[in-house]
Amino acid sequence: MTANEQPRVTIPSIRARKGTGEKIVSITAYDYAIASIMDAVGVDILLVGDSLGMVLLGYENTLPVTMDEMIDHTKPVARAARKALVVGDMPFMSYHLSKEQALANAGRFIKEGGADAVKMEGASPRRLRLIETLVEADIPVLAHVGLTPQSVGRFGGFKVQGTTPEDARRIIGEARAVEKAGAFALVVECVPAEVAAEITSSIGIPTIGIGAGPHCDGQIIVFHDLVGCHGGYLPKFVKMYAYLHGVISDAVGRYRDDVRSGVFPDDEHSYHMKPEAARRLKRGPKKAGKRT
Ligand code: KIV
Repeated sequence: MTANEQPRVTIPSIRARKGTGEKIVSITAYDYAIASIMDAVGVDILLVGDSLGMVLLGYENTLPVTMDEMIDHTKPVARAARKALVVGDMPFMSYHLSKEQALANAGRFIKEGGADAVKMEGASPRRLRLIETLVEADIPVLAHVGLTPQSVGRFGGFKVQGTTPEDARRIIGEARAVEKAGAFALVVECVPAEVAAEITSSIGIPTIGIGAGPHCDGQIIVFHDLVGCHGGYLPKFVKMYAYLHGVISDAVGRYRDDVRSGVFPDDEHSYHMKPEAARRLKRGPKKAGKRT
């Protein structure tokens, strides 16, 4: 089946992938042009991740990202998605104050942003109640355990989680709990492959891994990492399929040189008047005739 013939991806179709071996393909997306390409290629889930704070907006981590910024980037992605499921990522402090705040902000992703679902990090008892509340309000939730970047302060940096049997058991317990709370799928970030394999085989909803080895039901990656669109640090789990940083630097550098040397724009890239119009322009405006 070509990407064009594929039916729309839905929450039930994602859930139905569990155990079929048909992997769920997810990428982060933040704008119309790139999301249109991903949708046409047949990506299943477009996540408008709060990673946009780091890769698009230049923040040091994801914490400063606001709801308005998230909605602004969800709208064009939703407009681009003809087949893919669009998930909006609840940013830091958009669901921490109260159940009402979480409901209102998750509702904005669906009503204003055009998303199909939201993602929410964590699995504390309070978070589990929030998952239940959103699901009860018909807002599908993609849960997120392991390295949850909004808790970077508590973790003391972006570190692999679940490396000891005790910590691994805690994360496996969290995965079971978010399933019970009603999440339709689960992002598992930056844990050993053994832990992700154990989670995947012990819950009934799909796991979507990032830095979690090959045994998850699907994978997700940050788009700018996938295409090498920054010059900074890349974690071990990133496989770069292109190096756009080099391609863009080369193109912009050649444009700079051509503008400075006058090579661009040349005749091929310029508009011209018809010769008669050009002659009249040079002659100057017609003098007004004398009144008799
Ligand atoms: O914000 C994001 O891009 C994410 C993915 C890395 C899962 O949460």
